Amino acid sequence: MEKIIALNHKMNMEYEEVQNYLKNIQELEINPIIFPTAIYAKKFVDSGIKTGLQNIYSQNSGPYTGEISPSQAKSIGIDYVLIGHFERRKIFKETNKDINEKIKAAVNNNLKVILCVGEGKNENQEEIIKTQIIEGLKDIKEEIIIAYEPTWAIGSNEMPNKKELENIIKYIKSFFDYDIMVLYGGSVGADTIKTIKEVNAVSGYLIGGNSTNISELKKIKEVIS
Ligand code: 13P
Repeated sequence: MEKIIALNHKMNMEYEEVQNYLKNIQELEINPIIFPTAIYAKKFVDSGIKTGLQNIYSQNSGPYTGEISPSQAKSIGIDYVLIGHFERRKIFKETNKDINEKIKAAVNNNLKVILCVGEGKNENQEEIIKTQIIEGLKDIKEEIIIAYEPTWAIGSNEMPNKKELENIIKYIKSFFDYDIMVLYGGSVGADTIKTIKEVNAVSGYLIGGNSTNISELKKIKEVIS
């Protein structure tokens, strides 16, 4: 099965850059799922690109200044949402309970959820991931996608080796009674992807820093095709 290429733009690019990027990414023909900064999302949807939001709120409407609801996202043609990204957990103090509420709201609106999990450098990997999965997915029956992003690998140019990746993906899959797709994220680039692509259990890649870099994406495409 073709691997998923998910591009998390985070809070990067201004509007003119986005316009150039759109042209270039379409020419690249990698069929990505793009998670742009939310204010640009409709532009991506209208260009026929599979588009997601980097975050969502847990309510469909109401007095929640600055937030975006899952039903609003759905109404402009958004299909995917990242929930529980490390930066949301760390900077915006999202708890597993918050994440669980967001996932419930997202699946109720037929958004495809990518739940991000991952441990820090000196943390108990299995304990952390188990808690993130059990608490994050409490009472959720719908199928979702997991993105495994060890926090120490984000933006660091470091990543797990093949064996470590195989082991943790097997562990993650053991919590599900369906064949869940697990993406890998953390310092994915043309060089590091050589290791990741050897891990059959990886269903795709969640790319951050290089997601807005067309020439690096071109190199990534060459390596994986
Ligand atoms: P980097 O690719 O910059 O390490 O970021 C990974 C990430 O956070 C994707 O969600």
